[in-house]
Amino acid sequence: MLNDIEKVLYSEEDIRQKVKELGEQLTKDFAGRNPLVICILKGAFIFMSDLVKEIKIPLEIDFMAVSSYGQSTKSSGVVKIIKDLDVSVEGRNVLIVEDIIDSGLTLSYLIDVLEHRNAASVTVATLFDKPARRAVELQPHYKGYTLPDEFVVGYGLDYAEKYRNLPFIGVLKPEVYS
Ligand code: PRP
Ligand code: MN
Ligand code: MG
Repeated sequence: MLNDIEKVLYSEEDIRQKVKELGEQLTKDFAGRNPLVICILKGAFIFMSDLVKEIKIPLEIDFMAVSSYGQSTKSSGVVKIIKDLDVSVEGRNVLIVEDIIDSGLTLSYLIDVLEHRNAASVTVATLFDKPARRAVELQPHYKGYTLPDEFVVGYGLDYAEKYRNLPFIGVLKPEVYS
């Protein structure tokens, strides 16, 4: 598995520090707002579990599974809800936790859905952002790192469902997917 990685972009320790900083900021900004923190499965599962430990205020969590990439390295542009939320977002301060924003299609669709369900506010926190690849205008409120336009895996991010368990974020060797 490690042989398929061209280079490590951010180590486990780098990410731990960044997640801690994001958590401190979110702790301040969401104090007294009882946020509903929504993990976008599958990619965000590791970031979510590390991040909520660094948000030191009362909050609730829920999970939503969506997919637009399937087995490909390119977004299909069609976002499918595979598992919906268990609770209502009506009147809630929602914090969406994503691993990465690429084209922005997944999130712009989700924000639309949550606003239509009358969330009081919808805020986006992403660990990684690839603004160079945006197909729709979308700016996360909180972000960890801006990434170059390379196919990255690890820390929850997959290629064809593999590599999510790598503790760092790295660039996949092109020969692995070409
Ligand atoms: C990936 C990633 C984001 C989305 C970002 O999810 O986890 O959710 O794509 O891409 P976009 O900005 O171009 O929409 P994916 O659809 O691969 O599902 P997964 O999280 O289960 O891997
Ligand atoms: Mn995802
Ligand atoms: Mg994926």
